[in-house]
Amino acid sequence: MLTLRRKGRFTENIVSTTHELPLATLGPVTAEESRLLQRIDLTRLPRHIAVIMDGNGRWAQKRHLPRVAGHSAGTQSARTTIETCARLHIEALTLYAFSVENWRRPKAEIEFLMQLLREYLRKEMPLIQRNNIRMRFLGRTEELPVAVQNDTREASEATASNTGMILSIALNYGGRAELVDALNSILAARLSTQNAAPSANHSFASTPANSPTHANSPMPVNSSMNPGASVSPAPITEDEISRHLYTSDLPDPDLLIRTSGEMRVSNFLLWQIAYAEIFVTETLWPDFNRARLLEALLDFQKRERRYGGIEADSSPKPSVRLAR
Ligand code: FPP
Repeated sequence: MLTLRRKGRFTENIVSTTHELPLATLGPVTAEESRLLQRIDLTRLPRHIAVIMDGNGRWAQKRHLPRVAGHSAGTQSARTTIETCARLHIEALTLYAFSVENWRRPKAEIEFLMQLLREYLRKEMPLIQRNNIRMRFLGRTEELPVAVQNDTREASEATASNTGMILSIALNYGGRAELVDALNSILAARLSTQNAAPSANHSFASTPANSPTHANSPMPVNSSMNPGASVSPAPITEDEISRHLYTSDLPDPDLLIRTSGEMRVSNFLLWQIAYAEIFVTETLWPDFNRARLLEALLDFQKRERRYGGIEADSSPKPSVRLAR
C-alpha cells in the first residue's frame, strides 16, 4: 500500500510542514500507478482540472457495439477520475458531459445520455458523499428535461454542505453561451442597480466628454433612465465578467485534459482556459483510467507556466498577468 505525503499547501515554509493526505491512500494501486505516483510532486497539483471526455462513440465502434455502449463504459472513467481527484485534494474538477451542440445528435442518443446521467447521479451519490464532494451543474440547465433538472437540483442540494472538491458537470453547456449569459447578467445587474437608485447611479460612471472612455462608449446613454445626465456606462472589466460566469467562485482551470486525440477546445470554458495547460491524449474516454490521469498530472508538472511573461511558474493573479 502506498502512502501519499504532501507538503502544506497554504504555508510559506512548505518544506517543513509535510502531512499525510487525510485519505492517506488511493486504495490498492497497480505497479504502473505506483511508479507514476512516486514521480508526482503532490505540492504542485493543479487546483482545477477540466476534462473534455471524448471518444465514447469510437470506443464502441471499435468493439462493434452501439455508440451508447461507449457512453455507459465512460461512466466508469468518470467515477475513477472523480474519486482520484477528490482523494488527491484537487480543489475543482469540471467534466464536459453535454454541450449545447449535442442536441444535434440522434434523439435516441440524447435520451440515453439524459437517462444515463440520472442513473449516474443516483448510483454514485454514496461515492460523492463519502468523498465529501460538492456537486454542481454548469450550463443552461433550465433547458434540460424537467426530470433531469429535478435530479441535478437534488444532487446539488444534497452535497451543498460538503467541504471537499467541487465537482461541476457541464450540461447543456457552451462557452459562448456562458459569455452571452454573463454579459446579459451584467446588464441586468446594472439596470436593477440603476432602477433602485436612479439618482445615485453606481453602475454608470459619469465621465468627461473628452475622455477615452466616453469616446469609446459601448452603449448610448438612455436619457429616459438618466434625465439630463451626461453619463456613459462604466467599462466592463475582466473581473466583472469573471464574477458573472457560471464558474464565478472557482479558480480558472490550470489543466485541461482532452481524450481521443482531437486538438480542439470545443466551446468549453473559453474564458476560463486562457492560461490552462492543455493535455491531449489519444486514449478514448472509456479507456481513461487512473494511470492515464496520473500521466496527465505528471505532464502538467513538466510544463513551464509563464502566463505571457518570461519567468517560469510565477503564477500571477489574472489581473497582473502580462500580455500573451
Ligand atoms: C463524447 O463521446 C462524450 C460525451 C458526449 C459525453 C458523455 C460522457 C459520458 C456519458 C461519460 C459519463 C459522464 C457522466 C458525468 C455521467 P462521443 O460520443 O463524442 O465520442 P466520439 O467522438 O468517438 O463519437
